[in-house]
Amino acid sequence: MAKKVNPYKDSDQSKKDQVTKMFDTISKEYDGLNRVISFGIDVKWRNKVVKLVGEKNPANILDIATGTGDLAISLTSTSAKEIIGLDISDGMLEVGRQKINNKNLDGIISMVIGDSEDLPFEDNTFDAITVAFGVRNFENLEKGLSEILRVLKPNGIFVILETSVPTNPIYKFGYKTYSKFILPTIGKLFSKDRVAYKYLSESASVFPYGEALNNILRKIGFINVVDKPQTMGVATIYTASKA
Ligand SMILES: C[S@@+](CC[C@H](N)C(=O)[O-])C[C@H]1O[C@@H](n2cnc3c(N)ncnc32)[C@H](O)[C@@H]1O
Repeated sequence: MAKKVNPYKDSDQSKKDQVTKMFDTISKEYDGLNRVISFGIDVKWRNKVVKLVGEKNPANILDIATGTGDLAISLTSTSAKEIIGLDISDGMLEVGRQKINNKNLDGIISMVIGDSEDLPFEDNTFDAITVAFGVRNFENLEKGLSEILRVLKPNGIFVILETSVPTNPIYKFGYKTYSKFILPTIGKLFSKDRVAYKYLSESASVFPYGEALNNILRKIGFINVVDKPQTMGVATIYTASKA
């Protein structure tokens, strides 16, 4: 069971409400700061997700926790004729809607407000489902994953991109130093929400990764679960399917 880390330590609100408020607050700065704190490598990781999904020739894709829609936009290079980006933060979705509109992609991508733990779709709806840097923000990880399994079609592909912790001690030391000291400082200096980037690094350090997350996925009922660590293990791409 993942340790619960909430954005605002003194708040009485649920994790879900706190996460929604935090992403609404940082929505306009999210894309810029994201590129800076990941040195732009996040783009490369998302492209790998697109390649894995594209190989399955999906007709439709659900991108959960789509945020400002970068992954949903990149997924338009696959065969999919319909892509739904779902997120709980209307602030993040609004930034995404603008980008989609500017790229004339409204015909393919729709941005929908919703909760990963109560998905507004029928069983067996999607050929592919993706979540990039979203699962560790779910209030109830297992409920969110069960909902994903429910709406995925049999033989469909589920891909998670999430932060992880390097296993090599030298890389791990560098990663811990960066995420404990440098990342929160960047957040404090440049973000509208001083605690947001502290939450993002704290939640990353306690979230299950590698075999631990594989086992959670298997327990929920996913099959063919594989994890692929990226860039010294600071992020991992997980692929899974449904029987
Ligand atoms: C770190 S951002 C990632 C955004 C985007 N996928 C990306 O790769 O940049 C996490 C997103 O998860 C969303 N989120 C958190 N909990 C959620 C939930 N229960 N249902 C849907 N979206 C959620 C947040 O609103 C936020 O936009």
